[in-house]
Amino acid sequence: MLDLDDFIADCQAALEEQQPLLAVKEVLERAVADPDGVAAALPPTHSGIVPIHVAPDLTILKVVWAPGLSFGPHDHRMWAAIGIYGGGEDNEFFRRDGCSLTASGGRELRTGDVCLLGDDVIHAVTNPTAQFTGAIHVYGGDLLGTPRSEWRGEPFAEEPYDVARTLAYFEEANAALDTA
Ligand SMILES: [Fe+2]
Repeated sequence: MLDLDDFIADCQAALEEQQPLLAVKEVLERAVADPDGVAAALPPTHSGIVPIHVAPDLTILKVVWAPGLSFGPHDHRMWAAIGIYGGGEDNEFFRRDGCSLTASGGRELRTGDVCLLGDDVIHAVTNPTAQFTGAIHVYGGDLLGTPRSEWRGEPFAEEPYDVARTLAYFEEANAALDTA
């Protein structure tokens, strides 16, 4: 079973390396190489975003997505590393195009994969699998305390990222599953 205290300490140590993002990637790869061990520590049974560690220089989140759940385009304003320990995440990437966005490729992540995202990445994410997606997201800063953007509407328009709306979306997804 993944020891969360060790995992956090390994991520903190990675920040001291010359290339923190690559060092965090190695820490994540070691963890998700044993997906059952991560799932034992962080059960992927309900959609939600659970902070595991929050500091000015490092945020670690458990992110669980129900089958079919998707999120529109958003940015982070800091590097990110995502490790998948259940299900999958299909990433769609975008670049700014005036006030809107232009699609710019994608990447399908499945259990055991680790993906690195640069500071300026804008992505949308879907769980295309029939299982809950379990992921550890590591960010090189205070993600929850950093103002950032999401893009909504048709065509996409930039808005301040609304954390409360995201959390409400997860709660609706859980309620729908509980009712089903
Ligand atoms: Fe994201």
